[in-house]
Amino acid sequence: MSHERRPSFLAEHVDRLARTHLRELLKDNARGDRLRHRVGPVLLDLSRQKLDAEALAALGAHAEASGWQAARDAMFAGAPINTSEHRPVLHTALRASGSSLPSPAPREALDEIESTLKRIDALVHAVGLGDASAFGIAPGITDVVNIGIGGSDLGPRLAVRALTPYHVPGLRSHFLTNVDGQSAYELMRELDPRRTLVVVVSKTFTTQETLLNGTVMRDWISRAYDGDASKVARHFLAVSANVAAAESWGVPAEQVYPMWDFVGGRFSLWSAVGLSLALAIGSYNFHALLKGAAQIDDHFRTASWQQNLPVLLSLVEIWNRNGLERGSRAVVPYADLLTDLTSYLQQLEMESLGKQVTPQGQPVAQSTSAVVWGSVGTNAQHAYFQALHQGTDVVLLEFIGVVKPAHDLNANHDALLSNLLAQAAALALGKTFDEALAEAKQGSEEERRVLAAQRSFPGDRPSTVILLDALTPESLGALIALYEHKVFMLGHLWGINAFDQWGVELGKSIARQILPALENGEGDTSAFDSATQALIEAIRERQLTLASHNR
Ligand code: F6P
Repeated sequence: MSHERRPSFLAEHVDRLARTHLRELLKDNARGDRLRHRVGPVLLDLSRQKLDAEALAALGAHAEASGWQAARDAMFAGAPINTSEHRPVLHTALRASGSSLPSPAPREALDEIESTLKRIDALVHAVGLGDASAFGIAPGITDVVNIGIGGSDLGPRLAVRALTPYHVPGLRSHFLTNVDGQSAYELMRELDPRRTLVVVVSKTFTTQETLLNGTVMRDWISRAYDGDASKVARHFLAVSANVAAAESWGVPAEQVYPMWDFVGGRFSLWSAVGLSLALAIGSYNFHALLKGAAQIDDHFRTASWQQNLPVLLSLVEIWNRNGLERGSRAVVPYADLLTDLTSYLQQLEMESLGKQVTPQGQPVAQSTSAVVWGSVGTNAQHAYFQALHQGTDVVLLEFIGVVKPAHDLNANHDALLSNLLAQAAALALGKTFDEALAEAKQGSEEERRVLAAQRSFPGDRPSTVILLDALTPESLGALIALYEHKVFMLGHLWGINAFDQWGVELGKSIARQILPALENGEGDTSAFDSATQALIEAIRERQLTLASHNR
């Protein structure tokens, strides 16, 4: 499938700026006015992006010509913009309670959301008081296990960890995700089944990993009660858009919390999918998270493109991905509490934007999703930053920092932030050969030149810095909503549906075909390709050999 690599409207700007080093661009102090913006607790600094006023204006004109405001308003109002599934996209309605603007979402959806939020609040309150028997829950719960995968895991996982300082005392949170039985095995060794509350989260309630892990945990709890199903049920909650399936799996109707087809899994943290988060941080803080996200919703709905953080982030992504043809972006939070941000963004961005066909079935015109990767700083500096500074490929960097930490170890925090600032500066400025030569004091002229060549840095490597005032429920909500709207904008500008995910289905259906061949240890494999056949044979053969060794 071929697509034009560089859109024509960017070509002249790319050519012009190819001759200008970021060092030169950064001499213009006024660029901060165009490229550094604050909304509430979030400061977005794009001033180390390799674009100038003309390139930014061209990107802005492109957005304006695309009709992005009308597309945005259609999403907020509940138009069926997820066309391949005929669904509206209403994750913003989930946090409408925190908005200062009236919600244009359908009244029916807003009512369902409000009543579910009330149910969550009441349950969380009761669990916090130590007696949720009115909600069908066993007394003495000390541990909550969220079972889910993808959007039913990554959001709550990110937020529960990020908001550790807000955790309700006496309740520990765990996440069971992978179908690898090792995780379930370890958790069952660690926890007391009579004090464990399992929250099974699955929008479809058909996901293999989640249902298998749920069954493992149900059997484990059942053994603790000699198979008394009514007692076992007191340890389960479910969250699903397929309420009937959750009930027939064994969770009593009043312990099932709904989500809806109008919310995509990767956009669902704000719904009952965030139940284990609400249990971990309490209702007050859960609502603060919604409010923080709603603040960005209001901003996205009202600010001009020049001031609009999600729009600017998306335009910078277009510039890097399509103009400069950068294939990957490293997300590096300088905050251990944001360890899970990168994997959260991998799903949000790559599942949403990893598309090559338009909703009309035509090939896309340009490259779409970059590869998103990364890990926390400063650890990352001691792993892969060498390649980012001196490797042959330019990788776009995104640094996320927190101004005020949730601890008083100020020396650590100052060191952390100084490293973030230093990396962004070093990547942009680099070190010229002459500067490196001037530093090389020892050896012959030739030896000094050889060393200087190795110790110089090209620089001219772009990065974005996002600074949160502090890591609070509000600022986390704002940060995540910022990324959500960036994804919406990119879907719109690239002309793809950011809200479906057909690309995950093929592997799932092949796995369903392969499973019997592994379960039985025999059977015809000739329907599979030669590589799959050979690996099934190898696994079968080794399983027999290893079993005979154990006899
Ligand atoms: O396989 C991808 C996916 O469908 C994601 O989009 C989704 O977040 C995840 O699986 C989990 O799905 P569910 O919540 O239905 O179990």
